[in-house]
Amino acid sequence: SASNRDFKVADLSLADFGRKEISLAEHEMPGLMAIRKEYAASQPLAGARITGSLHMTVQTAVLIETLVALGAQVRWASCNIFSTQDHAAAAIAVGPDGTPDDPKGVPVFAWKGETLEEYWWCTEQALTWPDTATGGPNMILDDGGDATLLVHKGVEYEKAGEAPSVDTAENEEHRCILELLNRTLAENPQKWTQLASEIRGVTEETTTGVHRLYEMQQSGSLLFPAINVNDAVTKSKFDNKYGCRHSLVDGINRATDVLIGGKTAVVCGYGDVGKGSAESLRAQGARVIITEIDPICALQAAMDGYQVATLDDVVETADIFITTTGNKDIIMASDMARMKHQAIVGNIGHFDNEIDMAGLAAVPGIVKDEVKPQVHTWTFPDGKKIIVLSEGRLLNLGNATGHPSFVMSNSFANQTIAQIELFTKQQDYPIGVYVLPKKLDEKVARLHLDALGVKLTQLRPEQADYIGVQVDGPYKPDHYRY
Ligand code: NAI
Repeated sequence: SASNRDFKVADLSLADFGRKEISLAEHEMPGLMAIRKEYAASQPLAGARITGSLHMTVQTAVLIETLVALGAQVRWASCNIFSTQDHAAAAIAVGPDGTPDDPKGVPVFAWKGETLEEYWWCTEQALTWPDTATGGPNMILDDGGDATLLVHKGVEYEKAGEAPSVDTAENEEHRCILELLNRTLAENPQKWTQLASEIRGVTEETTTGVHRLYEMQQSGSLLFPAINVNDAVTKSKFDNKYGCRHSLVDGINRATDVLIGGKTAVVCGYGDVGKGSAESLRAQGARVIITEIDPICALQAAMDGYQVATLDDVVETADIFITTTGNKDIIMASDMARMKHQAIVGNIGHFDNEIDMAGLAAVPGIVKDEVKPQVHTWTFPDGKKIIVLSEGRLLNLGNATGHPSFVMSNSFANQTIAQIELFTKQQDYPIGVYVLPKKLDEKVARLHLDALGVKLTQLRPEQADYIGVQVDGPYKPDHYRY
C-alpha cells in the first residue's frame, strides 16, 4: 500500500509497542475477529468512507482494522482529550505494513492531552475527506455524538447564513466550536451541507450520544438515520456495567494508589455504569453509598445491599466520590468545599459537566497543583485539599486505559454490524433512531461464548413451541429487560 502522511499523533516511534498490544488484543476480541472472517470475501463495507470519533485505544485499533478488513476507508479522531493511547494511535497511523519512516496506515488525529481547540480540530480533520465529491464521509461512527453535533451545527448555521458570534460562547468548549464553524462558514459556506448530503447514517456508542440523537429526532433536526448501538443488550449491559467494573478501580489505582478497602465511596447514579462502578468498589472492600433520583434504581441499589443516601448527607464523611449519571451539576464546588482532606473526586460519565470544575476553579483563594498528568490537588484557603481525577473527565480512560478488550469486542461487534446495516440497507432505515434486531444482539453474545468455555443448552422444538420462540432465536420479546 501507499505511504500516508495524512495524520497527527504524538509519537510514531511507539508504533511497534502499539502493534504488539493490538496483536494481544485481537485474541481477546473474538467477536471482531469472527466478523472479519465472516465478511472477508463479501466486503460489505467496500465504498464506505467512515469517520470515527471514539476513544483511540488499543481496542479501537482492532475495531478500525476490522472496518478496513471489511472494505471501508476510515478517518479517525478520539472523542475525549485524555482518552487516546498514544502507542495505539501510532500503530494505526503506521499500519500493519508500514514503518515509522514509511507510514501506510489510517489517517488518525489523536493524542493524549489535547487542548479543547486541538480536539475540535482533530474532529474536523476526521470529518474532512480529501479528493471526494462532498469532501466528507458517507458514514459516521460516533461516541458521545461530537462528530454528529459538528455536522448538524454546521448545517444549521449554513442554512441561517451565519454562526453565532464567538462572544456568545457559554464556555471554552463552546467557544472552540463557534470559532471553528465561523471559520468554515467564511472558507466554504456550503462545507457541512455538502458533506452531510452523502452521509447514510451514524452508529452511536454511548448513552449520552444516544440521548442527543433522540432529542434531534424529536425536534425534527436529525439529518440522517442513526443506530443506537448503546442499547444493544450486549453493549450497555456488558460494556457499561462489566467494563466499568474493571476500569473504574483501575483508574483510581493508577491515579492515586490509595487503598480502597475500608474507605467509604459514594457512587452518584445506579444505572448500568453505576452498577458496575459500585460493584468494583465494594469488591475492593469499600463501603459504598449510592445516590439516585430514580426510585426504581434506588430500590435496586437498596436490594443489592447498598446504603442509598443524598450527597448532602454523606459529603462530609466519605472518602471517594464517583459520578456516573450522564447528568450535569452532580457534585458542585460547595459540595467539594465540605469534603474531607484528600477526598478523591472523579467522574466516569461521558462529559465533564457532572463535576462543577468551573465553580471549583472560581473558589476565592483556591490553588490547583498537578501531581502528575490527569491528577490534581485543589487546596482550599483553609489548607484542606481534595484530589480531582482527569479534570472531571471520564477517569477510566483519562487515568487508565478504558475497558479491556473482551468487553469491547461485544460493543464493537455491535458497532461493526450496525455500520454494515446502515451502509448496505439504506432503504430499511429512513431518518430515525433504531436499535439492532435482537437476533443480531444474540449473535454478538454467541460469538463470545467459546472463548469462555460456555456450553449453551440447545432448545428442543417442543420446548420452543411451548414458550413461543424459534429454536434458533430470538429467545426473548423486545420488551424483555435482562
Ligand atoms: P443510565 O441512564 O443507565 O444511568 C444513569 C443513572 O443516573 C440513572 O439511573 C439516573 O436515574 C441517574 N441519575 C440522573 N441524575 C442523577 C442525579 N442528579 N443524582 C443521582 N443519580 C442521577 O446511563 P449509563 O449507561 O449508566 O451511562 C451513564 C454515563 O456514563 C453516560 O454519560 C454514558 O455515556 C457514560 N458511559 C461511560 C462509560 C465509560 O467507559 N466511562 C461507558 C459507558 C457509558
